[in-house]
Amino acid sequence: MVNYAAQGDYMLLGVIGDPIAHSKSPAMHLAALAALGIQGTYVPLHIRPAGLDDAIQAMRALGFRGMNVTIPHKVEVMKYLDEIDAAALRIGAVNTIVNDNGKLTGYNTDGIGYVRSLKDEACPELQGKHIVVLGAGGAARGIIDALIEESPDRISIVNRTRDKAGALAEEWISRGDLRGYGEEEAEAVLQHAEIIINTTSVGMHPQIGAIPIPAAHIPQGIVVSDLIYNPLQTELLRQSELRQCIVHGGLGMFVNQGAYALEYWTGVAAPLQVMRAAVLDSFTNNST
Ligand code: ATR
Repeated sequence: MVNYAAQGDYMLLGVIGDPIAHSKSPAMHLAALAALGIQGTYVPLHIRPAGLDDAIQAMRALGFRGMNVTIPHKVEVMKYLDEIDAAALRIGAVNTIVNDNGKLTGYNTDGIGYVRSLKDEACPELQGKHIVVLGAGGAARGIIDALIEESPDRISIVNRTRDKAGALAEEWISRGDLRGYGEEEAEAVLQHAEIIINTTSVGMHPQIGAIPIPAAHIPQGIVVSDLIYNPLQTELLRQSELRQCIVHGGLGMFVNQGAYALEYWTGVAAPLQVMRAAVLDSFTNNST
């Protein structure tokens, strides 16, 4: 890694999205910059779809070193960049931009951030495991792309719309044992799951009582992970804990996607604990 931070330039960073007011990224990255002793800032920028092109041009003109990209711009932004990393290209979405003297490169740190968090916090070894992923949307793509790199035995994708799960499995079938299923097949597939990962929005605030699969279908003692971090403990994780499972919430993914982005921008290891504490702190101060 090039240690960009050591060059001493004031480091301009930010996040573009619509809406953006409730983003926890500024609090997390400002805490990280302070902990690393890097002079710089990280600002939330409310950019509507019609202003995306101008915003990316402005990034060059103003000398922003890096930008995070969030909903609804992760796909659209790709056409304004000079280069796109291979994983981001496969996933079809960018959440991090690095500016090297006017040349903009897009990355996707969501999937790799998620996998680093899952391994650190819940399941150090993914090789040879049967992983069941609930959902087949944008978030599932990023996560499955990164999971494949860990050589699991099989990834079963279960989705409300069966065809979407089948299409995703088929797209990447040359990379591993991937299979797509509909909800009616979920019970049989889940019986053999060693890890269940929820990528759907079922159970997210304010629908905190909702659960993406019946609790009775969760095998005892396996690893259950939920990308949702609001609430920190979803109904899926609560029910899984009652079944003696190892549970893993979405906070770690959020922190680690930010950590990878910061590492791309600065060239130095991100202060994970400081970042996690800053996000938890901003939850306490503003729980929406
Ligand atoms: P994201 O980028 O967060 O993945 P997305 O691309 O819109 O968002 O995908 C949402 C995923 O959650 C999809 O797999 C969706 O299922 P469908 O493909 O059938 O739409 C799933 N999902 C959303 N709401 C759901 C619900 N109420 N029940 C089951 N699945 C749901």
